[in-house]
Parts: sequence; structure tokens; C-alpha cells
Amino acid sequence: MLQRKDILGLKDMSKEEILTILETAREMKLRIDDGSLRKGELKGKSMVTLFYENSTRTKTSFALAGKYLGATVQDLGVATSSVKKGESLIDTGKTLDQMGIDIMVMRNSLTGAPHVLAKNVDAHVINAGDGSNEHPTQALLDLYTILDYKKHFEGLKVAIIGDISHSRVARSNVFGLTKLGADVTLAGPSTLLGGSGLLGVKTTADVKEAITDADVVMGLRIQFERQKTTAFPGLNEYRELFGINKELLKYAKDDVLVMHPGPVNRGIELSTDVIDGKHSVINIQVKNGVAVRMAILKLLIEGGKK
Ligand code: CP
Repeated sequence: MLQRKDILGLKDMSKEEILTILETAREMKLRIDDGSLRKGELKGKSMVTLFYENSTRTKTSFALAGKYLGATVQDLGVATSSVKKGESLIDTGKTLDQMGIDIMVMRNSLTGAPHVLAKNVDAHVINAGDGSNEHPTQALLDLYTILDYKKHFEGLKVAIIGDISHSRVARSNVFGLTKLGADVTLAGPSTLLGGSGLLGVKTTADVKEAITDADVVMGLRIQFERQKTTAFPGLNEYRELFGINKELLKYAKDDVLVMHPGPVNRGIELSTDVIDGKHSVINIQVKNGVAVRMAILKLLIEGGKK
């Protein structure tokens, strides 16, 4: 079990907690694979998803994970809720708290929004992505996928490539991977490498340098919605200089894993033949997301509210 009320980021999570989640996710994955999903650990519990930003993978996999464990799952539907009448985040949270909600899964464009919510409600709060800050459950499913294939983290060379400045996925992965002993290099346009606050991690604008001898290459989506200025001249130039294609992948290890959190801008961050190629585990990441989110829900509920 996890001795914590909320999951807000990997920055404040210990190596032991991360490994507990990955171990429990393995049990959940076996249950998914053999069809024995519904054991009812969350029977009588309720979960609400509050997504102030769009999502396909995170929202759906949390909803499925909650249902597989026996919880009542409700989506707030932010666009049609009283949020649109101007209700504040804290008032929204307190309102849901009064209905006896046990778990709130929230995505918000503002850094720290889940932290504010967590301080003001009794429910467990899970951060499903806050601005450019953290996306802890994405990183946990990425870590799970890497461990499943590589069997260890110590000394693994991981290249994370793309829009680093705006990437909550990159930040959460750096916190998690470095705690577990991996060697991380961040690469992308120099205009998209700054401001990440990822001290102590190598950065380079040379993608070939980052990919050379990599065990894992993780592409990132260009987050046009968070870029206040044009960070590069055009998509063609981005593809030429920073896009991951078959030629570049030849510099990585022969058994390199190609990852991406999705959604992918096909043909820009990754070429189509790389997305659909033999090294790609992008679809496996999605599948593992359900198991990892089941593990998180189970462990939080077993630990109880603090
Ligand atoms: N990776 C990720 O968070 O995808 P969604 O935006 O579809 O949830």
C-alpha cells in the first residue's frame, strides 16, 4: 500500500513508492491478460474524473481501471459543468467532496492546480497532468514499460527528445528515471530546452548525440497550445533537425525501445515507419496504462485517507 493521500508528482515520490506501484502494476497486468480483472478492491468507492484539458488515454484508462476494480466512476464533464458558470476549483472540489467522492483524478492547464485541490478536499487527488509541471501516471506507465522490456534501470541510457520546456511527461520521467538509476539525456531545439528546471540532467540540441547508444528513445509531442512564441521556423525544419526517423535510430542500440506518450504528430516528431516499426512500444504503453492506473487506485484506497 501507499502511505500517502495523493499522487501529485514523481518529484516528491520515493524510489520505494515507485517500485511498489510498478510491482503492483505487474499483478494488475496479469489480471488483465488472464481476464480475472474484477476482484472488487474498490467496491463501494467512487471516483470522479475532472479534465479541464482534453484527453483520450489518461481519462479513459482511469475510468476503465476504476470500473475494473469495482468503483463507481463518474466524469464531471467540465465543459458542461458549473465550472463554466465561474465556479472555482476549490468550490468545485468541496462540492464533490460533500457527495462522498473517494478519488478525484484531475487534469488542469495550471501548474499546481492538483496540489491546491488536494489541500482542500478529503478525497484522494491524482494528478492527471498539470500544465508543464508533472504527469506522474504517464511516467509510471513509461517506467513500467521500460522495466518490462529491459528488466532494470541502472545505467540505462534514455534519450527524451522534443518539446522539453513544455513537457510534464519529460519532467515526471526525469524525476522517476534518475531516482531509479537511469542516465537521461534531453534533446530538442535550444528554444525548447530551457525552463524545465531539470538540473543535473544532460541537455543537447544534437539529436544524433542523444540517440547514440540509447537503450530507450522517447519522443514528445510538440505542445503548440503551450508555446507563447514560435520556437522554430516551421514543421519541415523541425522534422529535418529533430524528427526521429529510421536513419537516426541506427545510432541507438540494436534493441532500442521507441516510446511516445501520445498523441503523436505523425511524421513530425516520429516518422510513420518508426511509429509502426519493430522498436515501437507506443501501443504497449497505452495498454500498460490501464494496469498502472489500477495499481495506483488500489494502493491509494488500501492506504486510506490521511
Ligand atoms: N499521454 C496522454 O496523456 O494522453 P492523453 O492526452 O490522450 O490523455
